[in-house]
Amino acid sequence: MARRRTTVSFTTPVVVLVASYMAVSSGTWAAPVIGMPGCETRCGNMSVPYPFGLGADSRCYMPGFNLTCDHGRLLLGNLRVIESIDPNFYMLTVVHTGDVRTDGAGRGIFGEGGVLGDDGPYALSSAGNQLVLVGCNVRATLRSGNVTMSSCSSLCTNGFDGHTEMLSRLDTSMLCSGIGCCQARVVVDREELVPVTSYDVQLEYFGSNRSRDGKRWPPRVFVARDEWFSPWSVSQQLSSDLQAAASMEVPVFLSWEVIVRGAYDHGDDAGSLPAWECPRDAARMVCKSNHTGCTKRERGGYTCYCKTGYEGNPYITNGCQDIDECENSKENGCFGKCTNTDGSFQCECPHETRGNAYSPGGCFSVLTREQHFHYLIWGEKYIDIDVHG
Ligand SMILES: *[C@@H]1O[C@H](CO)[C@@H](O)[C@H](O)[C@H]1NC(C)=O
Ligand SMILES: *[C@@H]1O[C@H](CO)[C@@H](O)[C@H](O)[C@H]1NC(C)=O
Ligand SMILES: *[C@@H]1O[C@H](CO)[C@@H](O)[C@H](O)[C@H]1NC(C)=O
Ligand SMILES: *[C@@H]1O[C@H](CO)[C@@H](O)[C@H](O)[C@H]1NC(C)=O
Ligand SMILES: *[C@@H]1O[C@H](CO)[C@@H](O)[C@H](O)[C@H]1NC(C)=O
Repeated sequence: MARRRTTVSFTTPVVVLVASYMAVSSGTWAAPVIGMPGCETRCGNMSVPYPFGLGADSRCYMPGFNLTCDHGRLLLGNLRVIESIDPNFYMLTVVHTGDVRTDGAGRGIFGEGGVLGDDGPYALSSAGNQLVLVGCNVRATLRSGNVTMSSCSSLCTNGFDGHTEMLSRLDTSMLCSGIGCCQARVVVDREELVPVTSYDVQLEYFGSNRSRDGKRWPPRVFVARDEWFSPWSVSQQLSSDLQAAASMEVPVFLSWEVIVRGAYDHGDDAGSLPAWECPRDAARMVCKSNHTGCTKRERGGYTCYCKTGYEGNPYITNGCQDIDECENSKENGCFGKCTNTDGSFQCECPHETRGNAYSPGGCFSVLTREQHFHYLIWGEKYIDIDVHG
């Protein structure tokens, strides 16, 4: 998959990423394996790659990664998975239903009764989520343990009901201005984070008459993916039906990681590693395929990826397979003779031509005068010279 502009010389053949061995993989093509042997890996039109799995057989998934398939709907506890799961990417888009319920004291829990337990593999992602609040003279704060992850305040002026005012004050980008509604990014500070993944919401009222404010524009708080909240459509729904919030479908980004008990913070080389690098024993335990890399994640767990030049599922034996870059050689930047290798490819000008095989029309049968001139002066050390003939 290497896409690179290279410095090229006429005297050496062009080779990108010299692979450890040059085995040309060809011929035997097997359907990519994404799950454990004998395990169901489809639900409706969604695929379920290991470490995720379906059913009762605990061989089919890692602890905490069991999903259920309900008539083609892929479920993670009470959350619905709505985008296909990529085993090389540590995020999951799920939909949860409704706003965060708060009690008389303004306290609520996001993800209550769900999968965001303290020991589980899932957490609210540190990218792509926001806290959204509609209401009058109220502040919402989202916390994980004692760490504040987001907070914003919404004001209303006297004599207005909140949603009319909210609509009149929206800025041109359709973001809340803090009048009638507010929104703020969810931020996860890795340095401060303690291993807690339950999320508390606290509402604080600062108007002079809370019951009046509550009637004008009952406060609703949501945790949602960045692009979900459109003040216009949400306000339409909420102002026509105060109960609508309870049934709104709200997408949210979760991150996931494989928590290996006892495998981190000790082990052969843990102390000397950069924060994101996996100790070798943990990497071996989690990233089962050859040609994988391992990343240490926010809560001390791990995720894996297939290295450049490979694709597939890094969590299963032989899951990362060589990519045949020559199938789409032009997309991979090769305009000459392409030869697939294990993990890479070679690109050369065809026999009896020279030049830059990485550039369209870059191979020439003979040296032009200008090229010859450059060649004489610069020898091997140049290129991407302009070749106008
Ligand atoms: C996963 O399996 C455990 C134990 O078998 C069960 O308690 C839990 O509800 C399952 N989770 C999901 C999302 O199905
Ligand atoms: C599955 O089907 C639904 C509804 O037809 C569609 O919205 C969704 O994008 C599809 N997902 C995938 C992964 O193909
Ligand atoms: C937050 O809680 C953790 C663990 O409970 C504690 O170690 C830490 O000192 C607390 N931090 C603050 C700022 O209170
Ligand atoms: C608060 O507003 C309500 C009307 O919503 C009113 O009945 C009540 O008297 C007000 N309370 C105070 C202390 O002003
Ligand atoms: C995986 O890598 C190991 C060690 O480098 C090697 O011995 C083994 O043959 C490889 N397996 C495959 C299927 O390539």
